[in-house]
Amino acid sequence: MRRENVPSLVSLCINAVKIELLRGSDDLFPDVFELPTELFNPLVECLPPLALQKLQSKTNANFNEAWNTLFNIRWHDFEDCGCDQPVDWQQIYWETHVQDCLDEAADIACLPSFSGCLGDIPILESVQLYIGYMDDMGNSDCLKLSYQCQQFGCYVRCFTLQNVLCVLESCQLLRNSNLQRLVVQKISHFQVVDVLRNLLYQNRRTLTSLQFEGCEISSSFMDAICGSFCMSGAETHQIQHFSISFSNFYEMDPVYLGDSLASFLSSGRSLQWLKLRDNHRNASSNVTSLELSTDNIAGWLSNFNWRSGVAKSLQSLRILNLGGNNLQKEDAGQLKYALVQMPSLEILDLSGNPIGDEGIRSLIPYFAQASKSGSPLTDLKLENCKLSSDGMTQLLDALSTSTRPMTYLSLADNNARSQLAEALGKFWATSIQGLNLECMGLCKPGFRKLEDIITDNLNLVELNISNNYGGIETAKFLSKLIVHAPRLVSVDASYNFMPEESLPLICSALRTAQGHLEKVYLDWNLWMYKPSHDAILAEFQHNGKPILVIPDRPDDDDDDDDAAIDDDVGDIDDDDDIDIDDAGDD
Ligand SMILES: *[C@@H]1O[C@H](CO)[C@@H](O)[C@H](O)[C@H]1NC(C)=O
Ligand SMILES: *[C@@H]1O[C@H](CO)[C@@H](O)[C@H](O)[C@H]1NC(C)=O
Ligand SMILES: *[C@@H]1O[C@H](CO)[C@@H](O)[C@H](O)[C@H]1NC(C)=O
Repeated sequence: MRRENVPSLVSLCINAVKIELLRGSDDLFPDVFELPTELFNPLVECLPPLALQKLQSKTNANFNEAWNTLFNIRWHDFEDCGCDQPVDWQQIYWETHVQDCLDEAADIACLPSFSGCLGDIPILESVQLYIGYMDDMGNSDCLKLSYQCQQFGCYVRCFTLQNVLCVLESCQLLRNSNLQRLVVQKISHFQVVDVLRNLLYQNRRTLTSLQFEGCEISSSFMDAICGSFCMSGAETHQIQHFSISFSNFYEMDPVYLGDSLASFLSSGRSLQWLKLRDNHRNASSNVTSLELSTDNIAGWLSNFNWRSGVAKSLQSLRILNLGGNNLQKEDAGQLKYALVQMPSLEILDLSGNPIGDEGIRSLIPYFAQASKSGSPLTDLKLENCKLSSDGMTQLLDALSTSTRPMTYLSLADNNARSQLAEALGKFWATSIQGLNLECMGLCKPGFRKLEDIITDNLNLVELNISNNYGGIETAKFLSKLIVHAPRLVSVDASYNFMPEESLPLICSALRTAQGHLEKVYLDWNLWMYKPSHDAILAEFQHNGKPILVIPDRPDDDDDDDDAAIDDDVGDIDDDDDIDIDDAGDD
């Protein structure tokens, strides 16, 4: 044991070199690069970020793996920033470092006792340790936030700006950065408009993604967004991804808002992703939001038709998400004119808007036309749109006869009842791969009809029929489907009041089908765990994991609510299984 604690001569030397590098002895570098790999590699592996950064600045050698390791030591869970390129860990390391330092500073700055500059706030001691700061490195200024931003700000590509940081000093701190993605969160004050304008202007050449979450958006705010890109006289911006979600619109004259949004859109040529989701008007103000009321959406949608600039900028739009904005039937009527300006649209989400049957009827000509003109629209979400089986039948009929059918459709949370089955039968003989029919009131008659109209060789890959209270009919339908849809990968049939005799039906279908099924969700039906289910779980597996998701052995999971209750009851743990089994047999 003692021997293990004795450092080797090599490790002593490596440590000495590390300290010299941290102190900034430039003379050392030529010698370090002469080291044989069996010494150089262990040296690189033990360098803290500040030292590795110095070494990296003198060479083209690739230390990506060392940076990756340093990253994992400090932040265990890496959240992908959405960029497609291979990960440059040095960049990600310092980007995350700067974001962390600024967020920490924000926590301090929002204390009432704080007065002074953000930039003078020292970085946390734990952070000093991580990056390899040593007391005798001299300059204590390098512990300040301003120094960290000056040194490492150039690595920041993605940044989240929260309200405390929305001060002009932040623009100064981030002046070296070339932001590609900016997320603005919970900004509400009038004076921040200047900050936003500056930050957007500073990064106008690199910024491709701009997101506002939980903001209060006013006319001046909108002007700042739209104006910043044009201040240099540059005619176009590079924004590909623009989103406003969970936000409120204040003091906005809809026509004005339409104008400023239109001018933003028309000064871009790269927009691919437009998301205006879950925004609200403030009930106590007399303000309306761009996509809320009839007048408003008409206000800005009609602009699209008039301005060729806007039409041009919408040519590249691939994703349009207008979910949860309380759009009404009249809005759907206007939307149709905007949609024809988007020939590249692949994904359209209108969920959570009560457009109703009338609304969907006014969109049907667009869907029909889109398929004829070879539009790439393949993904349509119409969840919770107050559609009845009439409206949905008409939609499905139109989609079934189109030359380029959808690959994904969600009609979840609309009240179809059993009447929809016939139209569905025709539709799923098309090339549809993903279908969400969750919570549509299909019930027993619906599943019975669906079972009757299943044909061979369906293309379905994913199906969600949870929450439809079909009882045993769900199981009969499902067992037939499993046999007739050879590409099926996942089915969610939870919450269907299926009795226990469903299980043998489904298992027998699984034995017959030589499919690709990975998951069949059968939980939250009318049976509980039984030891005999273990054999079923073992029999049907995909990549070593059970295909069937059924109620688990209750004492598998100590956090389980039932288990917790039983523990409270006291000394009857051994009877748990029996109690649960009895309940299942009822
Ligand atoms: C609406 O705005 C007023 C004034 O800005 C604010 O006091 C109120 O809390 C807001 N209400 C909601 C529901 O957001
Ligand atoms: C709200 O707007 C309407 C129509 O523009 C106007 O008639 C009304 O006076 C406004 N109400 C308030 C409280 O400002
Ligand atoms: C089915 O739909 C419900 C409701 O939208 C959702 O919670 C569930 O995760 C879906 N199932 C699958 C397997 O995606």
